[in-house]
Order: sequence, then structure tokens, then C-alpha cells
Amino acid sequence: MRVLVTGTAGFIGFHLANRLRSDGHQVTGFDNMSSYYDVALKRARLEQLRLAQIPVVEADLCDKAALQDAWRKADPQVVVHLAAQAGVRYSLDNPQAYVDSNLVGFANMLELVREAKPAHFLYASTSSVYGANTTLPWSESHPVEHPVSFYAATKKSNEMMAHSYSDLFRLPMTGMRFFTVYGEWGRPDMAFFKFAEAMLKGEAIEVYNHGKMTRDFTHVSDVVDAVVGLMAVTPEPAATVEGEAARLGTSPVAPHRLVNIASGTRVELVDYIQCLENSLGLKAQINFTGMAPGDVRDTWGDVSILSELTGYIPKVGVDDGIERFAHWYRDYYGLKD
Ligand SMILES: NC(=O)c1ccc[n+]([C@@H]2O[C@H](COP(=O)([O-])OP(=O)(O)OC[C@H]3O[C@@H](n4cnc5c(N)ncnc54)[C@H](O)[C@@H]3O)[C@@H](O)[C@H]2O)c1
Repeated sequence: MRVLVTGTAGFIGFHLANRLRSDGHQVTGFDNMSSYYDVALKRARLEQLRLAQIPVVEADLCDKAALQDAWRKADPQVVVHLAAQAGVRYSLDNPQAYVDSNLVGFANMLELVREAKPAHFLYASTSSVYGANTTLPWSESHPVEHPVSFYAATKKSNEMMAHSYSDLFRLPMTGMRFFTVYGEWGRPDMAFFKFAEAMLKGEAIEVYNHGKMTRDFTHVSDVVDAVVGLMAVTPEPAATVEGEAARLGTSPVAPHRLVNIASGTRVELVDYIQCLENSLGLKAQINFTGMAPGDVRDTWGDVSILSELTGYIPKVGVDDGIERFAHWYRDYYGLKD
């Protein structure tokens, strides 16, 4: 199958592209190599992709001509759109980056989907859309009307923009709500990476809300399994699949579905730090601070829809996942075990 994966120099896109290639698919990547975090890490990921013979077009989603050109070259049957400005905290000071990549860039993607009509368009949303919702675990049927960060607001907008195109032009689409993805080749702006970096330098780590936080940490290999599973399940509007659809996250009118991609369990942040301490063989010095603006105390995803659709069972627990990350980190940065 021919697949276009955007955000391919990024954390999840890199892993997904590699997996699809090793499953025998023809993969084309697209990424603007944004400098939001260390571009050298993105270049190192691209080098791995080059060795796997995955071409990556370096261009911006806002450059319509370049996007169209990449699309023509890839001629995709399925598109997995992961390129976006990620991160909750950065959106407080840099909202324009989110408007450009997540709203204008997303609209440009939708226009190409409308024109070329791939069999399935899958796109990244986030657990952050659940915002102020305190009913746990978070399920796709819960209301998501109260985002608490601008990042979440742009992703919730994506879900609505996609739904309208899916309905108007009968385009099969799946919005994937990822929950705190971690693992090898991860993102330097995320807590697990920043904690490891600080601990190895002998610096203190900053832990928000005095450590009273839980997260549904999902290892990137489980995320990739879930995305690959969902690629094969093309949504149909609820009206055509009697009774079942609402339960399976599908829109009543459009071939559009929203699915949580999580581990289905949550872990106390302090226990997660303890795993990191065990894997790195170091004790963390912790500065406990108050809640960060835009952040939420708990995240926990209900994965029953994902499991029912794809047979998904998460395989990597946090002990194992952190161990794999720590091993990769030492190796990548040339540190001794
Ligand atoms: N990692 C997580 O825990 C997590 C959780 C929820 C949602 N998500 C979403 O999943 C997707 C992938 O996340 P990730 O963790 O791999 O992030 P990432 O930042 O590592 O990857 C995103 C990639 O998109 C590229 N990009 C950004 N703006 C672009 C633009 N305008 N044009 C072209 N390329 C652009 C970046 O250069 C980057 O390589 C994102 O949409 C993110 O919002 C991630």
C-alpha cells in the first residue's frame, strides 16, 4: 500500500514510518523540520529513515504547492497526518505556531484529501481535548467542550474541521487521541526526556502539582500497533451500521471516528520517576512546584473502542518502556550504561 505519513521527522511519525516500511508498504514522509526542539535529533531520525529507503519531503504544511507536489509524488491510498505544533506549555507563549501548523496546515491537508479522496485519512488529536473533564477514565463519548490550553483548542478544532469535510464529501477519517506517548527516539520537550536529561547531569527536576498527578503513559510501540490497526478499519457513518456505531466512536452522519490511543491504565507521576531512577541507577533531586497553567491533574484513557476495533492489547508496561528509553538515551548520547 502507498502511505503518506506527515510529521515523519517527529517522534511518532518516525516510528510509524519505519514500521510501515518493514511491513512492506511504500511510505513517503513530509516534515518541515521545525526547530521547536533539537533539529539534530530530527536529522538523526531522518538518517534512519533514509537507510530504510523512506523518502521525506522537507516542506511546510502551509506551503500549499509543496504539499500538493509531495502528495502527487506519494499518490497515497492512506494518509496518516501527524505533523503539527505539539506541546501544551509552548502554546501559552507561541499561539501563532499552532494557528499556522494546526489550523491553516490542517485545512490545507483537508483540501488535498477532498481533492484526491484517499481510502482513509487518519490524523493526530490528543487526550488534551478532554481538558477540564474529571470523569475518569476518559471515553470518546464524554463531552470535550472545555479545553484548558490553546493547543487542545486547536486539536479539538481539527476534530470538528475533519468531521465537516468527512460529512460533506463522504471522506473516511479517523481522529486519534494520543495519550502521553513516551519511548526511544522521544521528544526532548516532554517530561520523561527532560527528567532523564536533568538526572544524568545531576540537576534537579521540576515536578508540578507537588507530584499529585497521574498519567496514562503509552509506549510508542503500542501507539504504532494501534495506528496500524486503525488504518485497516475504515469508518462508516453510524446510520449504516445499526446500533453499534455510537459505541464504536463513530459519527451518526459522517464516516468519521474518534478513538483513544492509550495504555488504558494510569500511573502516579512519582512512580514513573521511580522507574526512571531504577533504569538510570540514579536518585532524582525533586523540586515540587504548583500546577502548570494549561495542565491537568490526571489523564486516563478508556481503550475499549480501540480494542474492539483492532484487537489492541498494550504490550509495554512503564518499567519495560522506561528501561528501553533509558537504554536508547544512553546509547544515542554516547553515555556509559
Ligand atoms: N507525543 C505525544 O505524547 C502526543 C500526545 C498527543 C498528541 N500528539 C500529537 O501527535 C502528533 C505527533 O506528535 P509527536 O510526539 O511525534 O511530535 P513531534 O513534534 O515529534 O512531531 C511532529 C513533527 O511535525 C513537524 N511539523 C510541525 N509543524 C509542521 C508544519 N507546519 N509543516 C510540516 N511539518 C511540521 C515537526 O517538525 C515534527 O517533526 C502531533 O500532532 C501531536 O500533537 C502527540
